[in-house]
Amino acid sequence: MDTRKPQQYSQNRSFQHSEGVEALQNYARTNNSSPNVRYHVADAADPSTIKPEWRGAFSKVVSTFVLHWVKDKPTALNMLNSCLKPGGEIVFLCVSDKSKFHEVPLELSSLPKWSVYLKDAVPAVFPWPSCDITAEHRSSLLEACGFEVIACDIKKHQYSWKSKDQFKISLRSVLPHLSYIPEDKQEEFMDDLIKLAEERHWITGDEVPTIHESYLVIACDIKKYPHCYISRDQVRGVIRPTLPHLSYLPEDKQEEFVDELIKMAEKRHWITGEEAPTVHEVLGVHGYSRSKDMSFKTQPTAVSF
Ligand SMILES: C[S@@+](CC[C@H](N)C(=O)[O-])C[C@H]1O[C@@H](n2cnc3c(N)ncnc32)[C@H](O)[C@@H]1O
Repeated sequence: MDTRKPQQYSQNRSFQHSEGVEALQNYARTNNSSPNVRYHVADAADPSTIKPEWRGAFSKVVSTFVLHWVKDKPTALNMLNSCLKPGGEIVFLCVSDKSKFHEVPLELSSLPKWSVYLKDAVPAVFPWPSCDITAEHRSSLLEACGFEVIACDIKKHQYSWKSKDQFKISLRSVLPHLSYIPEDKQEEFMDDLIKLAEERHWITGDEVPTIHESYLVIACDIKKYPHCYISRDQVRGVIRPTLPHLSYLPEDKQEEFVDELIKMAEKRHWITGEEAPTVHEVLGVHGYSRSKDMSFKTQPTAVSF
Protein backbone atom coordinates (compact mmCIF):
# COMPACT_ATOMS: atom_id res chain seq x y z
CA MET A 1 0.00 0.00 0.00
CA ASP A 2 1.34 3.43 -0.90
CA THR A 3 0.43 5.45 2.16
CA ARG A 4 1.24 8.71 0.39
CA LYS A 5 -1.82 8.31 -1.82
CA PRO A 6 -4.97 10.20 -0.83
CA GLN A 7 -7.05 7.02 -0.68
CA GLN A 8 -4.87 5.92 2.23
CA TYR A 9 -5.06 9.25 4.10
CA SER A 10 -6.44 8.69 7.56
CA GLN A 11 -6.95 4.99 6.96
CA ASN A 12 -3.42 4.16 7.93
CA ARG A 13 -1.48 6.38 10.22
CA SER A 14 1.81 5.20 8.81
CA PHE A 15 1.27 7.60 5.91
CA GLN A 16 2.05 10.32 8.40
CA HIS A 17 5.53 8.92 8.70
CA SER A 18 5.97 8.36 5.00
CA GLU A 19 8.82 9.85 3.10
CA GLY A 20 6.57 12.68 1.87
CA VAL A 21 5.68 13.94 5.33
CA GLU A 22 9.23 13.52 6.62
CA ALA A 23 10.57 15.47 3.64
CA LEU A 24 8.02 18.21 4.19
CA GLN A 25 8.92 18.44 7.86
CA ASN A 26 12.63 18.70 7.04
CA TYR A 27 11.92 21.31 4.40
CA ALA A 28 9.90 23.37 6.91
CA ARG A 29 12.63 23.09 9.56
CA THR A 30 15.28 24.22 7.09
CA ASN A 31 13.37 26.93 5.28
CA ASN A 32 10.91 28.25 7.84
CA SER A 33 12.60 27.92 11.17
CA SER A 34 12.01 30.22 14.10
CA PRO A 35 12.97 29.89 17.77
CA ASN A 36 9.31 29.72 18.78
CA VAL A 37 8.17 27.25 16.11
CA ARG A 38 8.47 23.47 16.39
CA TYR A 39 7.37 20.92 13.81
CA HIS A 40 5.90 17.54 14.75
CA VAL A 41 3.98 14.89 12.86
CA ALA A 42 0.80 13.35 14.24
CA ASP A 43 -2.35 11.76 12.89
CA ALA A 44 -5.44 13.83 13.66
CA ALA A 45 -7.50 10.65 13.59
CA ASP A 46 -5.30 8.71 15.99
CA PRO A 47 -5.05 10.05 19.57
CA SER A 48 -2.19 7.64 20.32
CA THR A 49 0.09 9.82 18.13
CA ILE A 50 -0.53 12.85 20.38
CA LYS A 51 2.18 13.58 22.94
CA PRO A 52 0.86 13.75 26.54
CA GLU A 53 2.39 17.23 27.00
CA TRP A 54 0.22 18.60 24.14
CA ARG A 55 -2.96 18.02 26.18
CA GLY A 56 -4.37 21.34 27.34
CA ALA A 57 -1.26 23.12 26.02
CA PHE A 58 -2.44 25.22 23.04
CA SER A 59 -4.58 28.31 22.76
CA LYS A 60 -5.25 28.06 19.01
CA VAL A 61 -5.62 25.37 16.37
CA VAL A 62 -5.49 26.36 12.69
CA SER A 63 -6.30 23.80 10.03
CA THR A 64 -6.68 24.29 6.28
CA PHE A 65 -7.78 21.65 3.78
CA VAL A 66 -7.25 18.73 6.18
CA LEU A 67 -10.47 17.76 7.96
CA HIS A 68 -12.17 16.47 4.80
CA TRP A 69 -9.47 13.78 4.62
CA VAL A 70 -10.37 12.63 8.11
CA LYS A 71 -13.17 10.07 8.27
CA ASP A 72 -13.57 9.91 12.02
CA LYS A 73 -14.20 13.59 12.73
CA PRO A 74 -15.43 13.14 16.33
CA THR A 75 -12.14 11.46 17.27
CA ALA A 76 -10.11 14.21 15.59
CA LEU A 77 -12.22 17.03 17.10
CA ASN A 78 -12.19 15.53 20.60
CA MET A 79 -8.43 15.14 20.31
CA LEU A 80 -8.02 18.77 19.18
CA ASN A 81 -10.30 19.90 22.00
CA SER A 82 -8.16 17.99 24.48
CA CYS A 83 -5.05 19.82 23.25
CA LEU A 84 -6.63 23.24 23.81
CA LYS A 85 -6.45 25.29 26.97
CA PRO A 86 -9.75 26.37 28.53
CA GLY A 87 -11.12 29.08 26.25
CA GLY A 88 -8.97 27.81 23.38
CA GLU A 89 -10.06 28.33 19.81
CA ILE A 90 -9.94 26.47 16.55
CA VAL A 91 -10.35 27.86 13.06
CA PHE A 92 -10.54 25.54 10.11
CA LEU A 93 -11.34 25.47 6.45
CA CYS A 94 -12.40 22.31 4.65
CA VAL A 95 -14.37 20.89 1.78
CA SER A 96 -18.09 20.49 2.43
CA ASP A 97 -20.50 18.25 0.53
CA LYS A 98 -21.50 21.39 -1.41
CA SER A 99 -17.96 21.95 -2.71
CA LYS A 100 -17.41 21.23 -6.41
CA PHE A 101 -14.34 19.19 -5.43
CA HIS A 102 -16.80 16.75 -3.89
CA GLU A 103 -19.84 17.17 -6.15
CA VAL A 104 -18.29 16.96 -9.62
CA PRO A 105 -16.21 13.76 -9.23
CA LEU A 106 -19.18 12.18 -7.41
CA GLU A 107 -21.54 12.99 -10.29
CA LEU A 108 -19.08 11.61 -12.85
CA SER A 109 -18.56 8.44 -10.81
CA SER A 110 -22.30 7.75 -10.79
CA LEU A 111 -22.58 7.71 -14.62
CA PRO A 112 -22.91 4.12 -15.95
CA LYS A 113 -19.74 4.56 -18.03
CA TRP A 114 -17.66 4.97 -14.84
CA SER A 115 -19.79 3.47 -12.06
CA VAL A 116 -18.93 0.04 -13.43
CA TYR A 117 -15.37 0.63 -12.12
CA LEU A 118 -16.17 2.83 -9.16
CA LYS A 119 -19.18 1.17 -7.54
CA ASP A 120 -17.00 -0.56 -4.94
CA ALA A 121 -14.52 2.29 -4.50
CA VAL A 122 -13.73 3.02 -0.87
CA PRO A 123 -14.40 6.72 -0.16
CA ALA A 124 -11.30 8.73 0.63
CA VAL A 125 -12.74 12.22 0.93
CA PHE A 126 -15.12 12.90 3.81
CA PRO A 127 -16.54 16.39 3.23
CA TRP A 128 -18.15 18.19 6.12
CA PRO A 129 -21.90 17.37 5.92
CA SER A 130 -23.73 20.63 5.20
CA CYS A 131 -26.81 19.32 7.08
CA ASP A 132 -24.68 19.62 10.24
CA ILE A 133 -24.65 23.42 9.96
CA THR A 134 -27.94 25.00 11.00
CA ALA A 135 -29.36 28.34 9.84
CA GLU A 136 -28.29 29.73 13.25
CA HIS A 137 -24.70 28.71 12.46
CA ARG A 138 -24.62 25.87 14.94
CA SER A 139 -22.98 22.51 14.40
CA SER A 140 -24.07 19.36 16.21
CA LEU A 141 -20.77 17.71 15.39
CA LEU A 142 -18.74 20.51 16.95
CA GLU A 143 -21.06 20.86 19.93
CA ALA A 144 -20.89 17.14 20.64
CA CYS A 145 -17.10 17.51 20.70
CA GLY A 146 -17.22 20.34 23.24
CA PHE A 147 -17.03 23.37 20.92
CA GLU A 148 -19.24 26.37 20.38
CA VAL A 149 -19.30 27.93 16.90
CA ILE A 150 -18.22 31.60 16.87
CA ALA A 151 -18.46 32.13 13.12
CA CYS A 152 -19.27 29.86 10.23
CA ASP A 153 -19.42 30.64 6.56
CA ILE A 154 -19.38 29.04 3.14
CA LYS A 155 -16.67 31.12 1.45
CA LYS A 156 -16.68 31.38 -2.30
CA HIS A 157 -13.16 31.31 -3.63
CA GLN A 158 -11.79 31.87 -7.14
CA TYR A 159 -8.26 31.19 -8.22
CA SER A 160 -6.40 30.82 -11.50
CA TRP A 161 -4.40 27.92 -12.85
CA LYS A 162 -1.69 28.14 -15.46
CA SER A 163 -3.61 25.75 -17.73
CA LYS A 164 -6.30 23.09 -17.73
CA ASP A 165 -3.57 20.47 -17.92
CA GLN A 166 -2.07 21.80 -14.70
CA PHE A 167 -5.45 21.58 -13.01
CA LYS A 168 -5.83 18.02 -14.31
CA ILE A 169 -2.42 17.08 -12.90
CA SER A 170 -3.28 18.50 -9.50
CA LEU A 171 -6.62 16.65 -9.43
CA ARG A 172 -4.89 13.44 -10.51
CA SER A 173 -2.66 13.64 -7.46
CA VAL A 174 -5.49 13.92 -4.95
CA LEU A 175 -8.44 11.99 -6.43
CA PRO A 176 -8.43 8.33 -5.44
CA HIS A 177 -10.73 7.27 -8.33
CA LEU A 178 -7.99 6.47 -10.82
CA SER A 179 -6.68 3.52 -8.86
CA TYR A 180 -9.98 1.73 -9.58
CA ILE A 181 -9.98 2.51 -13.32
CA PRO A 182 -7.95 0.49 -15.88
CA GLU A 183 -4.84 2.34 -16.95
CA ASP A 184 -5.93 2.70 -20.58
CA LYS A 185 -9.14 4.45 -19.45
CA GLN A 186 -7.65 6.87 -16.94
CA GLU A 187 -6.95 9.72 -19.37
CA GLU A 188 -10.52 9.48 -20.66
CA PHE A 189 -11.84 9.69 -17.09
CA MET A 190 -9.79 12.82 -16.47
CA ASP A 191 -10.99 14.36 -19.77
CA ASP A 192 -14.62 13.62 -18.82
CA LEU A 193 -13.98 15.14 -15.39
CA ILE A 194 -12.66 18.38 -16.89
CA LYS A 195 -15.63 18.50 -19.31
CA LEU A 196 -18.12 18.07 -16.47
CA ALA A 197 -16.18 20.60 -14.36
CA GLU A 198 -16.78 23.12 -17.17
CA GLU A 199 -20.46 22.24 -17.48
CA ARG A 200 -20.91 22.71 -13.73
CA HIS A 201 -18.93 26.00 -13.79
CA TRP A 202 -16.23 24.61 -11.55
CA ILE A 203 -13.76 25.80 -14.22
CA THR A 204 -14.28 28.70 -16.59
CA GLY A 205 -12.01 30.19 -19.23
CA ASP A 206 -9.60 28.48 -21.57
CA GLU A 207 -6.08 29.88 -21.65
CA VAL A 208 -5.83 30.75 -17.97
CA PRO A 209 -8.70 28.82 -16.40
CA THR A 210 -10.38 30.08 -13.23
CA ILE A 211 -11.52 27.64 -10.56
CA HIS A 212 -14.73 28.54 -8.68
CA GLU A 213 -14.91 26.74 -5.39
CA SER A 214 -16.68 27.14 -2.08
CA TYR A 215 -15.22 26.05 1.23
CA LEU A 216 -16.60 25.78 4.71
CA VAL A 217 -14.80 28.08 7.15
CA ILE A 218 -15.55 27.72 10.86
CA ALA A 219 -14.14 29.35 13.96
CA CYS A 220 -15.16 27.86 17.27
CA ASP A 221 -14.05 27.84 20.85
CA ILE A 222 -14.34 25.49 23.77
CA LYS A 223 -17.87 25.32 25.09
CA LYS A 224 -18.61 26.54 28.58
CA TYR A 225 -18.65 23.80 31.12
CA PRO A 226 -20.15 21.33 32.09
CA HIS A 227 -18.17 19.48 29.52
CA CYS A 228 -17.54 15.80 28.86
CA TYR A 229 -14.01 14.61 28.38
CA ILE A 230 -12.73 11.47 26.77
CA SER A 231 -10.57 10.42 29.70
CA ARG A 232 -9.29 11.29 33.17
CA ASP A 233 -5.92 12.14 31.64
CA GLN A 234 -7.59 14.70 29.42
CA VAL A 235 -9.18 16.36 32.48
CA ARG A 236 -5.73 16.47 34.14
CA GLY A 237 -4.24 17.98 30.97
CA VAL A 238 -6.86 20.73 30.96
CA ILE A 239 -6.72 21.47 34.70
CA ARG A 240 -2.92 21.40 35.16
CA PRO A 241 -2.06 24.58 33.20
CA THR A 242 -4.77 26.53 35.06
CA LEU A 243 -3.19 25.85 38.47
CA PRO A 244 -0.79 28.54 39.72
CA HIS A 245 -0.22 26.36 42.82
CA LEU A 246 2.13 23.99 41.07
CA SER A 247 4.86 26.58 40.61
CA TYR A 248 5.12 26.86 44.44
CA LEU A 249 5.42 23.11 44.99
CA PRO A 250 8.56 20.99 44.63
CA GLU A 251 8.49 19.12 41.33
CA ASP A 252 8.27 15.69 42.98
CA LYS A 253 5.09 16.75 44.83
CA GLN A 254 3.21 18.25 41.91
CA GLU A 255 1.65 15.00 40.63
CA GLU A 256 0.48 14.17 44.15
CA PHE A 257 -1.13 17.60 44.43
CA VAL A 258 -3.01 17.11 41.15
CA ASP A 259 -4.06 13.60 42.25
CA GLU A 260 -5.46 14.95 45.51
CA LEU A 261 -7.17 17.81 43.73
CA ILE A 262 -8.90 15.37 41.35
CA LYS A 263 -9.93 13.20 44.32
CA MET A 264 -11.36 16.20 46.13
CA ALA A 265 -13.03 17.40 42.93
CA GLU A 266 -14.85 14.05 42.79
CA LYS A 267 -15.95 14.33 46.42
CA ARG A 268 -17.33 17.81 45.74
CA HIS A 269 -18.95 16.66 42.45
CA TRP A 270 -16.84 19.02 40.41
CA ILE A 271 -15.96 15.98 38.31
CA THR A 272 -18.26 12.99 37.83
CA GLY A 273 -17.98 9.78 35.80
CA GLU A 274 -15.07 7.46 35.20
CA GLU A 275 -14.77 6.56 31.49
CA ALA A 276 -16.00 9.85 30.01
CA PRO A 277 -15.79 12.27 32.95
CA THR A 278 -17.93 15.40 33.09
CA VAL A 279 -16.64 18.64 34.60
CA HIS A 280 -19.42 20.71 36.18
CA GLU A 281 -18.05 24.20 36.34
CA VAL A 282 -16.42 26.99 34.43
CA LEU A 283 -12.70 26.29 34.52
CA GLY A 284 -11.37 29.25 32.63
CA VAL A 285 -12.56 32.75 31.87
CA HIS A 286 -12.37 34.35 28.45
CA GLY A 287 -10.01 37.19 29.26
CA TYR A 288 -10.09 38.54 25.74
CA SER A 289 -12.66 39.72 23.26
CA ARG A 290 -13.81 37.15 20.77
CA SER A 291 -13.74 38.26 17.23
CA LYS A 292 -16.56 37.54 14.80
CA ASP A 293 -14.28 38.00 11.81
CA MET A 294 -12.26 34.92 12.80
CA SER A 295 -9.09 36.76 13.68
CA PHE A 296 -7.62 35.93 17.06
CA LYS A 297 -7.30 38.67 19.65
CA THR A 298 -4.75 36.96 21.86
CA GLN A 299 -1.17 35.97 21.22
CA PRO A 300 -1.66 32.36 20.32
CA THR A 301 0.22 29.25 21.30
CA ALA A 302 -0.92 27.72 18.08
CA VAL A 303 -0.94 24.33 16.50
CA SER A 304 -1.38 24.43 12.77
CA PHE A 305 -1.85 21.63 10.23
C1 LIG B 1 -4.46 19.50 0.76
S1 LIG B 1 -3.19 19.28 1.94
C2 LIG B 1 -3.30 20.78 2.87
C3 LIG B 1 -1.97 21.19 3.40
C4 LIG B 1 -1.92 22.56 4.11
N1 LIG B 1 -2.66 22.55 5.36
C5 LIG B 1 -2.40 23.65 3.20
O1 LIG B 1 -3.43 24.27 3.48
O2 LIG B 1 -1.77 23.87 2.18
C6 LIG B 1 -3.95 18.05 2.95
C7 LIG B 1 -3.05 17.65 4.10
O3 LIG B 1 -3.83 16.90 5.02
C8 LIG B 1 -2.94 16.04 5.70
N2 LIG B 1 -3.73 14.98 6.36
C9 LIG B 1 -4.60 14.11 5.81
N3 LIG B 1 -5.10 13.28 6.74
C10 LIG B 1 -4.53 13.64 7.92
C11 LIG B 1 -4.62 13.17 9.26
N4 LIG B 1 -5.40 12.11 9.57
N5 LIG B 1 -3.90 13.79 10.22
C12 LIG B 1 -3.10 14.84 9.92
N6 LIG B 1 -2.96 15.33 8.67
C13 LIG B 1 -3.66 14.73 7.69
C14 LIG B 1 -2.04 15.52 4.58
O4 LIG B 1 -0.81 15.13 5.12
C15 LIG B 1 -1.89 16.75 3.69
O5 LIG B 1 -0.71 17.43 3.99
